[in-house]
Amino acid sequence: MRVNVVTGAGGAMGRCCALRLARRGGVMLIADRRPEPLRAVAAELADVGAEVVVEINDVTDGESMARLAAVAGDAGEIGAVVLAAGISPAMGDWRALVEVNFLGTWRGLRAFAPLARPGAVAVGFSSMAGMFLAAGGHDVDAAIRENPEVPDLVDRLAAIDDGFFTAPEAAYRWSKLGVARLCEQEAATWGARGGRVVSVSPGLIEGPMNALEMQDRGHLIRSLFDRTPLGRMGQPDEVAAVVEFLTSEAASFVSGCDIRIDGGLGAQRVFDQQAERHRAGTHE
Ligand SMILES: NC(=O)c1ccc[n+]([C@@H]2O[C@H](COP(=O)([O-])OP(=O)(O)OC[C@H]3O[C@@H](n4cnc5c(N)ncnc54)[C@H](O)[C@@H]3O)[C@@H](O)[C@H]2O)c1
Repeated sequence: MRVNVVTGAGGAMGRCCALRLARRGGVMLIADRRPEPLRAVAAELADVGAEVVVEINDVTDGESMARLAAVAGDAGEIGAVVLAAGISPAMGDWRALVEVNFLGTWRGLRAFAPLARPGAVAVGFSSMAGMFLAAGGHDVDAAIRENPEVPDLVDRLAAIDDGFFTAPEAAYRWSKLGVARLCEQEAATWGARGGRVVSVSPGLIEGPMNALEMQDRGHLIRSLFDRTPLGRMGQPDEVAAVVEFLTSEAASFVSGCDIRIDGGLGAQRVFDQQAERHRAGTHE
């Protein structure tokens, strides 16, 4: 029996991913730390005839992730492992952002790696926000490329750049860029077993997360909206559609890369940066 797994399945994008993956048959293993929305999604899945297993899970807890992988292993051979659990800057301080987004994804990739097999695909949830960093050569970039198992990683991050990292916005961006880096790196581990790893970078997507960010940082969200070439927010199911493709046989040679689902915002960012540099050069 094939088992597909979604973490953060009680959330907007996780729910849509679970509904799409359920069409493949087999077992749908859905996890989230919030029982109520998880049960509601389980009921929706049952309504469309899926065989559902529900697991209350916390991605910040290594044992909880190991248990989730064990439940999946008992249910069958793993197919898609969609790691959608995540938080935004309005939902926690910089430590929580690193613990949930970055280390949570790392725990998921590591817990499920021994179950990887041909046809198994892990999907990490990065963010277009990671593109807003000048990565490469930065101390944080180097730190997140190191083994996150090193126990003092979080403290080392805090020490970089005189506390720069502890600003929630910066920590969010790095935590999400870190997810894309992890997925690049873990492609080798999963690949050795015939499995694949990819990440997706959503732009502004409608849902409770962005509603909260709008209250907290409306100015920033509006400026991102204004710079999105498609001139609208994305729908959670538009992300799930890409996840469905990436975890299908049609994407059988796609691994170790990040796919932007952002209405063109990331590309616009590159052009804006070029224009800024050009203006700065002209004024010198
Ligand atoms: N919404 C956006 O615009 C946007 C943009 C870029 C990236 N993302 C990322 O996409 C993913 C899905 O976002 P969404 O809009 O569906 O958000 P959401 O808030 O609707 O869903 C996230 C889910 O993760 C769960 N979760 C949080 N912490 C957890 C933990 N410690 N253990 C287990 N579950 C936990 C929450 O309970 C929630 O159900 C997240 O990783 C998010 O950071 C979102």
